[in-house]
Amino acid sequence: MIETRDLRKTYTMGGEQIHALDGVSLRIEDGDSVAILGPSGSGKSTLMHLVGGLDSPTSGQVVVAGQDLTSLGPAELARYRNEKVGFIFQSFYLQSHLTAVENVELPLKIRGMARRERRRIAHAKLESVGLADRVSHRPQELSGGQRQRVCVARALAGDPRFLLADEPTGNLDSKTGKEIMRLFMDLNRESGLTLIVVTHDPEIAIQTHSSIRLRDGKVEAGAGNVVHNAAGDAE
Ligand SMILES: Nc1ncnc2c1ncn2[C@@H]1O[C@H](COP(=O)(O)OP(=O)(O)OP(=O)(O)O)[C@@H](O)[C@H]1O
Ligand SMILES: [Mg+2]
Repeated sequence: MIETRDLRKTYTMGGEQIHALDGVSLRIEDGDSVAILGPSGSGKSTLMHLVGGLDSPTSGQVVVAGQDLTSLGPAELARYRNEKVGFIFQSFYLQSHLTAVENVELPLKIRGMARRERRRIAHAKLESVGLADRVSHRPQELSGGQRQRVCVARALAGDPRFLLADEPTGNLDSKTGKEIMRLFMDLNRESGLTLIVVTHDPEIAIQTHSSIRLRDGKVEAGAGNVVHNAAGDAE
């Protein structure tokens, strides 16, 4: 379970304070699929960064499987990111000089896994996202949808507990976006992977089991309120 408790992130710029997150308390159960919605600047990415241990809050807590991230040191936090979280962003952030398979095995290399073993896993993950025939391509030799699928394979390489996707379909056409989303939902259903996806697209949000709407750094309609989507429940 992922729980945030009165989470706040305040930036000070030119003497002015920006409350990017202004007391967010919510709970996401293991195996859930959640859409994070809200207008631009409402704090969605900030929330993802804090839950993913990429940044630390001004106050409040992020508790993942009973462990408070704010109590972890930098090395422990790096380990948390590497072992527990799969990240997917709108921009692909692939290493352009590396092939698809080399990109996917990177998180395993960081873990110190032997080359043969990490190659085997990276190939399997690329196959699972339908890219078995593109393992030796570099990012610029792949389409946008294929690049995003390499990112998904990379995010999955380390068998994360949960997937954090920040507008993963933002740079894709609607058909490719739907395919990526279908891939996420299949993973959620089949592997029980917890999925948290930031999106502006109501068609994407409706596929997840529940949704959380942010506004001005707060959860809209009350702290911890999670709206269950009819479409998600019907599946
Ligand atoms: N490093 C930073 N320094 C100062 N202000 C920041 C920083 N990062 C974010 N903010 C501010 O915090 C607020 C929330 O930003 P955030 O990126 O979380 O919004 P968002 O909901 O992801 O928006 P979008 O839909 O446009 O991606 C915004 O007002 C933003 O300007
Ligand atoms: Mg954002």
